[in-house]
Amino acid sequence: MSAPYILVLFYSRNGSTSEMARQIARGVELGGMEARLRTVPAISSEIEAVAPSIPEQGCLYASLDDLKNCSGLALGSPTRFGNMAAPLKYFLDGTSTLWLTGALVGKPASVFTSTASLHGGQETTLMSMLLPLLHHGMLVAGLPYSEAALLETSGGGTPYGASHHAGADGKRALDQHEITLCRALGQRLAKTALLLETPRG
Ligand SMILES: Cc1cc2nc3c(=O)[nH]c(=O)nc-3n(C[C@H](O)[C@H](O)[C@H](O)COP(=O)(O)O)c2cc1C
Repeated sequence: MSAPYILVLFYSRNGSTSEMARQIARGVELGGMEARLRTVPAISSEIEAVAPSIPEQGCLYASLDDLKNCSGLALGSPTRFGNMAAPLKYFLDGTSTLWLTGALVGKPASVFTSTASLHGGQETTLMSMLLPLLHHGMLVAGLPYSEAALLETSGGGTPYGASHHAGADGKRALDQHEITLCRALGQRLAKTALLLETPRG
């Protein structure tokens, strides 16, 4: 059996959400747990799969077992029309066997997103990503205002989860507040998972 881990599951086309995932994974490690970074493949309108089962670069694709066996989940997506991206939704739509068995009930979960515009739907996307996780019975871990960066940021960062303003060209790097909040979210998730896994005597 593998060591307990937090699954950092994300989709990213141009790298911004992927960079957030790396910072969240760092936070998970600072919180004392292993982070398992996984992505999902792009989807196409073709009926047959058109991509290799192992990506040419970057993280491996997530399996249902990665999700089933995690101690907690950080779920990340670029904002697309104020909502999560279809490839991630497609993966989640394939998790009904986990729902039927209650495999994720009681596990902590957090969400993160990246946008082109500062007010282009970060909060709506984060909230939409929480909906399926609540159906799965997961426990939501957001960002508390005791994180000073939440009040100081002029970029991303919300109480609903971590966010990043990547700019119109998608090239704006994560600023220090966004990094701090990504790490804080990962750390909080790891610490919560550890508390929940501690046997009660
Ligand atoms: C189809 C589509 C829809 C998008 N919708 C939004 C949107 O509603 N609001 C916004 O600010 N950015 C929107 N974007 C921009 C992406 O959210 C943004 O570039 C994000 O940082 C990409 O993340 P990635 O680098 O991880 O792929 C959209 C991009 C695409 C391709």
